[in-house]
Amino acid sequence: MDREAKGTRIVTVSPDNPESEAIEAAATVLRTGGLAAFPTETVYGLGADATRPESVLSIFRAKGRPADNPLIVHIAEFGDLDPLVSDVPPSAKLLRELFWPGPLTLVLPKSDLIPDVVTAGLPTVAVRMPSHPVALALIRRAGVPVAAPSANVSGRPSPTSAAHVIDDLAGRVDLIIDGGDTDVGVESTVLDLTTDPPTLLRPGGVTYEELCQVLGRVSVDPAVLARREDGALTVGREDAGGPPRPQTAAPRSPGMKYAHYAPRAPLFLIEGELGLVVEEILRLMHEYMVEGKRVGVLSTAESRGAYPAHVVLEVGSRVQPKAVASALFSTLRAFDEHGVDVILAEGIPEEGLGLAVMNRLHKAAGGRVIRV
Ligand code: TXA
Ligand code: MG
Repeated sequence: MDREAKGTRIVTVSPDNPESEAIEAAATVLRTGGLAAFPTETVYGLGADATRPESVLSIFRAKGRPADNPLIVHIAEFGDLDPLVSDVPPSAKLLRELFWPGPLTLVLPKSDLIPDVVTAGLPTVAVRMPSHPVALALIRRAGVPVAAPSANVSGRPSPTSAAHVIDDLAGRVDLIIDGGDTDVGVESTVLDLTTDPPTLLRPGGVTYEELCQVLGRVSVDPAVLARREDGALTVGREDAGGPPRPQTAAPRSPGMKYAHYAPRAPLFLIEGELGLVVEEILRLMHEYMVEGKRVGVLSTAESRGAYPAHVVLEVGSRVQPKAVASALFSTLRAFDEHGVDVILAEGIPEEGLGLAVMNRLHKAAGGRVIRV
């Protein structure tokens, strides 16, 4: 089924067994230098032929993305990795056997095939093989490596449905494949294999615990943990809407330094033991309500009933981070639709996918973090 939004063609496919005409249409867009958005198992991506600098540049323009933030290159077969990198170390061979296709991105020294615009001038390239049947079919049919960041306007929550992509990018891209909701809900894990031990640059769909089981040791980039090192902030209410607090640690994954995942209203992240978190949210909620502000609460299932706020949106059980990850970005976008003035969000334990969830919530909060 075909439709159009602001001149962008939208083709709907069945996610498990995508229709070949639709895949061919999107592959043609990529082969001829255009931009096509497509579902992956993590979030929707905005693809271009990674070997064409002009096409890759147009990704940055469409998203309003800073040029110093490199892109992930997507492939459809294990062997497609080899020509993109100068060497495939044993750790990469092992990890691709275990986690590809899937939400793990490997950073390796790049080959000459990869233009500088893809890597923002870095000598390394980030590569992943997604598991979504639509993504795999598209990359295969296009016959080229596909550079694809998340298909959102820079700074917004990543898209987990075609509707999110249409909201952000209709009129700015040639084609969007609608393959339904994505599964994982947070982006891939980015792992730098040029260091020993490897460095976790971004927590994501493959967990830190899983990587440690395979690799023994994995270091964690200071940017992922920055909040722990500089301690908790006790933020005053007057900070709502104020400028994000600058990050202290210099991130090695350039994307980690930008404000991200942000809904339109300022978001406060309250983390700690659940009882205290609920108490603090109730306290802040009442203060804002007295001021006539429309308050949104991002709650977990366990405390859903505790809040008499204007808009309470639940993201699932705090002991099932997988479900929370899956619902997170669409919930952040939903607060925009409800037109809240401020969002008070509960933290969850940082285990398994909880580490990626909390990383995205910290980014969305832009430093407005309260530890109780
Ligand atoms: O799940 C995902 O990874 C999604 C889907 C579409 O595949 N893509 C995605 O791309 O999240 P993007 O552009 O939103 O995030 C890419 C991240 C950024 O944090 C970027 O800085 C980092 O990967 N990155 C890319 N190339 C890198 C490199 N050579 N060295 C270090 N970090 C790199
Ligand atoms: Mg992104």
